[in-house]
Amino acid sequence: MQLEGLNAVVTGGGRGIGREIALELAEAGASVAVADINLTSAQQTANTIQEMGRFAMAIAVDISDSAQVKNMVNAASEALGSLDILVNNAGIGISASVMETTDEELDHVLGVNLKGTFLCCREASKTMVAQGKGGRIVNIASSAGDNARVEGGAYCASKAGILQLTRVLAMELGPHGINVNSVSPGLTDTIAGPNVSANQAYRNSFLAQVSLGRAAHPRDVARAVRFLVSPESGYVTGETIHVDGGYSAGKPTVRA
Ligand SMILES: NC(=O)c1ccc[n+]([C@@H]2O[C@H](COP(=O)([O-])OP(=O)(O)OC[C@H]3O[C@@H](n4cnc5c(N)ncnc54)[C@H](O)[C@@H]3O)[C@@H](O)[C@H]2O)c1
Repeated sequence: MQLEGLNAVVTGGGRGIGREIALELAEAGASVAVADINLTSAQQTANTIQEMGRFAMAIAVDISDSAQVKNMVNAASEALGSLDILVNNAGIGISASVMETTDEELDHVLGVNLKGTFLCCREASKTMVAQGKGGRIVNIASSAGDNARVEGGAYCASKAGILQLTRVLAMELGPHGINVNSVSPGLTDTIAGPNVSANQAYRNSFLAQVSLGRAAHPRDVARAVRFLVSPESGYVTGETIHVDGGYSAGKPTVRA
């Protein structure tokens, strides 16, 4: 129960990786506010946590809207009593070449992934600084943040922005005892993962570059998040943990 007595917000916690993060933190003892644009799915995750005997609540939020983000942070810290952990997981993906990406698609992907993560960091860090007892922020980026791919212009750019935002925040918030890190999943088996992957050919070509030879399970990602919000990682900040089976480590080129 490493996280006993700590209060967390997990965005995009209604399904996929975010749901597993919310459950993982609750299993480690945290109380969790599950925030999602889909209130029904957020409530389902909160119900599962409550069935474990932990405190959980669901909050409806579109993270790209600053008024809704302020409301999320206020509602969570009021109901939970404090805000110690923020996990910025909510995100969306598209596959389109730069030439084919529309203004609407660009605004949507950057608006949710980069601006949304920025807004949540900004509002939560104000609360954490005012509380004066430190805190933890973990941003879910992607191996696409530092590995370019065809038809990934908007998505890769949004995730690269999150990686740099993480480092800036680590500089700004370190003096307040707030650690800020990223977790970069590779191909992860969620509803969105295979959809974004579009087809089996993409999946196969991705997995051919994964040293461990399989896609991630959402819990693989959630466990890295748990480490980054636990006392064991107290001296880690501004860092990125790749949970991608070796995809980012190098190219599996074999010398003839
Ligand atoms: N699945 C993968 O292969 C993979 C790989 C690398 C990184 N990621 C990243 O992990 C995170 C989670 O991915 P996933 O596969 O679980 O996705 P998912 O689509 O299954 O879940 C995303 C959740 O975020 C919520 N959401 C979407 N837009 C929102 C908004 N504007 N405000 C609040 N909530 C919103 C959705 O309702 C959903 O519950 C994303 O940031 C994604 O980019 C996923």
